[in-house]
Amino acid sequence: MKAVILAGGSGTRLYPVTVAINKHFLPIYNKPMIYYPLSLIMLLGIRDILLIINPEDLVIFQKLFKDGSHLGINIKYKIQERPNGLAEGLILAEDFIGNDNICYMLGDNIFFGHDLVKIMNEARYEIEKSGGAYVFGYYVKDPERFGVVEFDDKGNVISLEEKPKKPKSNYAVVGMYFYDNEAVQIAKNVKPSERGELEITSVNEEYLRRGRLKVKLLGRGFAWFDAGTHDSFLEAGEFVATIEKKTGLMIGCIEEIAYRNGWIDKEKLLELAKPLAKTEYGKYLIELAK
Ligand code: TTP
Repeated sequence: MKAVILAGGSGTRLYPVTVAINKHFLPIYNKPMIYYPLSLIMLLGIRDILLIINPEDLVIFQKLFKDGSHLGINIKYKIQERPNGLAEGLILAEDFIGNDNICYMLGDNIFFGHDLVKIMNEARYEIEKSGGAYVFGYYVKDPERFGVVEFDDKGNVISLEEKPKKPKSNYAVVGMYFYDNEAVQIAKNVKPSERGELEITSVNEEYLRRGRLKVKLLGRGFAWFDAGTHDSFLEAGEFVATIEKKTGLMIGCIEEIAYRNGWIDKEKLLELAKPLAKTEYGKYLIELAK
């Protein structure tokens, strides 16, 4: 399986903060937003990763991640000329994906939960074994902001709607999707929505129509933030700060994951920690190496 992270977009809900800077570089507490989805992909053991980015951000992304080899991963970049919607990333990623299945992540979504990686792995193996699409639903108070999933009495999915004015449920589809290789062709056939975007909900709807969509609900043991508004951005940062201070463990620390996965050795970890030595982040890495 290969991973694609969407890290373009216009970020208008975070204006004026994101007039001049892409939101994925903004700090969620002590690290850039993009570290969080990237870290989950690394926790899944996926090493081939494509970042979909805006043209003006290539130099900054390359400064941040280079080609990923210092973390034992392989990062490629693909320019999205305009924010034409979440489904366009699948089309842009076609060559990168090749014949593989796909873990598709939104760069501004932050997840935390005890069994999160286990649940993601279940999704991954389901797709690798049986194909189709596997997505997650999460109870929210403001479903009109999201793609919304409706269930019947038996828990079967009966509809999906993007940003509905009158949501049929309170379950939002979160920004982490597992697809078989068909997703690319499906995305190519998606027509722009009323707001002129290629919606990821349209891709999911097509899987639903084919009877190939699985939606798993994330229960109360999980926290999910779409950090794309001022309030959710702040909440996500406060949440990460609280958990990290309470547990003494970091969330979304990509160097730690690379080290624990055995992708980099102790010397490399210390080398990566060196420029960060004035920060708690750097001290954490140095402590880890001990
Ligand atoms: P959104 O938050 O839905 O859109 P946006 O980032 O353009 O922000 P706003 O609505 O405030 O204007 O995007 C979800 C994620 O997908 C986010 O990480 C940005 C990314 N994205 C792309 O990479 N390409 C796109 O065409 C779009 C729309 C979003």
